[in-house]
Parts: sequence; C-alpha cells; structure tokens
Amino acid sequence: MTRVAVFPGSFDPITNAHLDVIRRAAAVFDRLVIGVLGNPRKTPLFSVDERVALIVAEVTDLGPSVVVESFDGLTVEFAKRHQAGFVVRGLRAISDFEAELQMAHTNRRLAPGIDTVFLMTGLEFGYVSSSLAKEVAAFGGDVSPMVPPGVEAALQRERSV
Ligand code: PNS
Repeated sequence: MTRVAVFPGSFDPITNAHLDVIRRAAAVFDRLVIGVLGNPRKTPLFSVDERVALIVAEVTDLGPSVVVESFDGLTVEFAKRHQAGFVVRGLRAISDFEAELQMAHTNRRLAPGIDTVFLMTGLEFGYVSSSLAKEVAAFGGDVSPMVPPGVEAALQRERSV
C-alpha cells in the first residue's frame, strides 16, 4: 500500500521549521505532496509561483517522492486529488495545538477518510515562523537561523525593492 500525504500551508516563505517537518514526513510517507495555498487570507509577500520555487529548490535532494504544487480551495479536496489519506501538519509548541486541532476536526468532518498527522519540529525551530522571519528581514536583521539561504536571499531582494 502506498502511503500518500499532503502538507498544506501558506509557506510565505518556507522556513527551517517547515523544512524540518518535510524531512520528517518524507521519512514516514511514500509520497509527500507539499501544497502551497494560492490565496491565503493574508496578502502574501511572495507570489504563489515564487513560494513554490523557493520550496522546490530546498526539497530536490529528497528525491521524486516529494513534490510541490500550488492549490486553491479546500485542503481535503487537494488531498483527494492526490489520493492522499493523510494531511501533515507541524507542531512547534503547545500553542500551535489548539488551532491545529480545530483544523484537523474540520477536515475530518469534511473528509472522514483523511487523517491529520502531526509531526513535532525539532526544539531549535520552536520559535520560527514565516511572519517573524519576514519582520526580522524587513528591518535588516539576521534570519539565517530561521530560513534556508535561498529564502534569505529572496527576503533581501524584497527589502531592496
Ligand atoms: O501555513 P498556514 O497558513 O498555517 O496554513 C493554513 C492552511 C493553508 C493549511 C489552511 O488555512 C487551509 O487548509 N486552507 C485551505 C482552506 C481549507 O481547507 N479550510 C478548511 C480547513 S481549516
């Protein structure tokens, strides 16, 4: 049986915490489809194509079982399109749990056959978020512990625009 999972998110931009979850999930599932939400509620800094490209650059070393795609609409519909039985979400700290639990129950109501699997990020990524990385970068701070070098460069380019 092939175990397929989707890992949905805004990824605006991808961080080292996301990448940690991706590596852990790639070790658990036969195929992992990273889903980049095209129209998140907040206006993204990076276009959907930029967000996809930044992720692709970071996951190519994981091989063909990890793919990146954009999607619009419901996560569970995206999962169904990929015949995925699982939605992966990362937990950095207990404070993530409440919102994630609500989302997992919503998704289960919408699609009872799809389960959410939570993976804990490494302790060192407990404080990392896309929004903090954007804020630190916007004021010229060092984001190298938070994001991969390609994303750091993209944030610097945004700052100079
Ligand atoms: O990276 P984020 O912003 O925490 O990801 C949130 C995301 C994209 C997983 C969530 O907003 C989502 O699934 N959006 C798609 C719409 C949807 O399916 N909503 C119902 C589940 S809450």
